[in-house]
Amino acid sequence: MKSPRSHQQPNLFRQTSRFYDLDLAWYPHQDVEFYLQLAAETGGPILELACGTGRVTIPLARAGYEVYGFDLSREMLGVLQSKLNRLPMEISRRIHLHRDDMADFDVRRRFPLIIVPFRSFQALTDEERIAGALAGIRRHLTPGGTAVIDLFAVNGEPDASWVGEQVDWVRRIPETGEVITRMRTGLAVDHDEQIIHSQVSFHVEHADGTRESVRDPFALKYYFPYQMQVRLAASGFSILDEYGYYDRRSLEAGPEMIFLFQ
Ligand SMILES: C[S@@+](CC[C@H](N)C(=O)[O-])C[C@H]1O[C@@H](n2cnc3c(N)ncnc32)[C@H](O)[C@@H]1O
Repeated sequence: MKSPRSHQQPNLFRQTSRFYDLDLAWYPHQDVEFYLQLAAETGGPILELACGTGRVTIPLARAGYEVYGFDLSREMLGVLQSKLNRLPMEISRRIHLHRDDMADFDVRRRFPLIIVPFRSFQALTDEERIAGALAGIRRHLTPGGTAVIDLFAVNGEPDASWVGEQVDWVRRIPETGEVITRMRTGLAVDHDEQIIHSQVSFHVEHADGTRESVRDPFALKYYFPYQMQVRLAASGFSILDEYGYYDRRSLEAGPEMIFLFQ
């Protein structure tokens, strides 16, 4: 199946970055505690690929770790930078940000802990770029260090229920009087390449009655556990642990697929 054409590079939240944190307000953020525990086990500094708005980056820095983070999206980094500007200096100076591509990056140092939280790795959809990211992780990991990739699990091949439009939530923001509606449109599932194409849109009704809509395209690769196991082995890694959720339950028993490897 051919991929739907998009004039915009997917997965970069170019139009919707300002809604990212609001969108995750529902999310329990248990992954943050998981990465804090890992950091306590490995020590820092920590490299975070695709750090986004700093949801994980900032708590790690607050806990005292030096965190190097990068992201390909100027807009997501912009949101993070504005948060850093409001943080106490002793925390913000522990965060080292730059714009880069997971598929081909060079931070010029090695790390005992490298993390790719919250499905960001799935934004890489072609073989060369996936291999490039894993090679980058290898180059940046200290001997004996730990790398972590968190993917969402799929329960069998995604079926036709992925395709179609749905309202995920509607919220009123008390401070501004805005009413925001989040919608997700499943466009297509490419079963050959294992890519889910979708679009996320936010529709804002301002307090004065004016309306605004923004949307972004997404193309996320899904994996079955053995595919990731084979891929990691082929890239020269050994798997240290595999979990199905941030509470470290078994891989088969949860909605996530979390691989710890070196
Ligand atoms: C789901 S967000 C996760 C952000 C953050 N790590 C978190 O846990 O909240 C995915 C992030 O991946 C970034 N991204 C997508 N493709 C990328 C690439 N090729 N290189 C670097 N970042 C990328 C997006 O801009 C976005 O910030």
